[in-house]
This record gives sequence, structure tokens and C-alpha cells, in this order.
Amino acid sequence: MTDAIRLQNCQFAYHKNTNVLNIDELTIKKGEKVFLYGPSGHGKSTLLNLIAGVLKASSGNVEVLGQDLSKLNQSARDKLRGEKIGYIFQLFNLIPYLSVKENIELPCLINKKRAQSLTNIEAQAMALIESLGLFDLTTKSVTDLSIGQQQRVACARALIGEPEIIIADEPTSALDEKNNKEFMKLLMNEWEKKKFTLLFVSHDERLKTYFDRTISLPEINRHV
Ligand SMILES: Nc1ncnc2c1ncn2[C@@H]1O[C@H](COP(=O)(O)OP(=O)(O)OP(=O)(O)O)[C@@H](O)[C@H]1O
Ligand SMILES: [Mg+2]
Repeated sequence: MTDAIRLQNCQFAYHKNTNVLNIDELTIKKGEKVFLYGPSGHGKSTLLNLIAGVLKASSGNVEVLGQDLSKLNQSARDKLRGEKIGYIFQLFNLIPYLSVKENIELPCLINKKRAQSLTNIEAQAMALIESLGLFDLTTKSVTDLSIGQQQRVACARALIGEPEIIIADEPTSALDEKNNKEFMKLLMNEWEKKKFTLLFVSHDERLKTYFDRTISLPEINRHV
């Protein structure tokens, strides 16, 4: 079976001759729940951006669902991400002038292949709204939500259309203990239902108990 994510001899530098990442090997299987941690500034977000095809490796291979990203141009990488990857950011990136429901539906409207069928986008959005406890907020503007509520909307937006890979970049770092636990519970419930590949980044090592496997970025990254 093809792996979900595979990096080999992968290097990345923002500036010439100063590698941020230098990873010999990283493989994540389809359906795996992986926790990646490491100190601030060590390259966690950079690695996620390489996998999502936002950035391109300076050398080596990054394969996502069997596709070699180095062979794809920027727009083909954007297309692959739009169709196959749900991205939850640390600072949610919700669209302020859209409602909760409209924000959640957006990925399926932008990427037609992300919607299993165009007629069920609304049904999918409503199912996610229901299971993430957002029902009373459906038509509210996202600017009127608490941080914990916004992060649940961001989670629903990443999950709509059932992308094969979910990437989460410190999605709980702005949440208090209670909302943090609630968010993790909801995310894991969704994983139980859909078994997507989950790559979750945090510097909070306590969260590793939710995952199948833990990877320390400093241990796999040889740049220092
Ligand atoms: N756009 C950029 N241009 C130049 N250097 C960058 C850029 N983004 C990040 N860096 C540098 O690359 C290194 C890794 O940054 P990155 O954001 O990947 O770290 P991180 O592990 O995600 O940190 P944090 O836990 O604080 O989010 C840092 O030294 C950072 O200064
Ligand atoms: Mg980061």
C-alpha cells in the first residue's frame, strides 16, 4: 500500500547554505495518527508546509499519497492540497465575513473534487456542525465566536469532504485546558469515524497520549 507521507534525504533552506531541515527518512502510513513535537523555531511548521506543498524541498524527495511533489509545479501542488489535505492552523484563518456554515463549506466550493458530490456539501457541513457541537452557531459570523468555538470551526473546515490527510499545526495552543481536552476528544472522534492520516504538531508533549506514534523533530532532523 502507498504511504500517506514519505520524505527521503530531504533538505530545505529559506536562505542559501542554512538548512532548516535535513531529514534522512520520515514515513507515515495511511490512517496513522502521528504526534510531532519539538522546540520553537526547530522547523515544525516548515516541515508541514513542505508536506502540504506550500514550500518545495531544496533537495531530496517529498511524496504525498504516492505523488512526488518535486515533479509538481506550484499550481499542481495547490490542487493536490486542496483535494487531499485538510489543514488546521494555529491561528485559525477563518474568513471573517462568512458565517460558521459558509466557512466550513468553503473548501468544497473551491475544490470540486473535495466534495464527494456537490449536492451533499450542505449535508456534510451540517453533519460536522452537529458532531463538533456548533449547531447553535451555524449562521453566526465567525468573528462573534470564542477562540475554542473558532478552533472547532477550523477543524470542521479541515475535515469537510473527507480529505485523506489532516495536518494540524499547534491547533490547541490558544486554548485553555478544558477547551484543549474537548478539541482533542472531538478530533479523535472524527478520526474513529473516518480514519484519515493525522499529522499533529505541538510543543506540548502531554498530548502525545492521543496518538499511535510520537516523533521528535530534533531526533530526525540533522541540521543541528
Ligand atoms: N518565511 C521564512 N523566511 C525565513 N526564515 C523562516 C521563515 N519561516 C521560518 N523561518 C525560520 O525557520 C526556522 C524554523 O521555523 P518554523 O516556523 O518552521 O519553526 P517551528 O518549529 O514551527 O516553531 P514554533 O514552535 O515557534 O511555531 C526558524 O529559525 C525560523 O526563523
Ligand atoms: Mg510553528
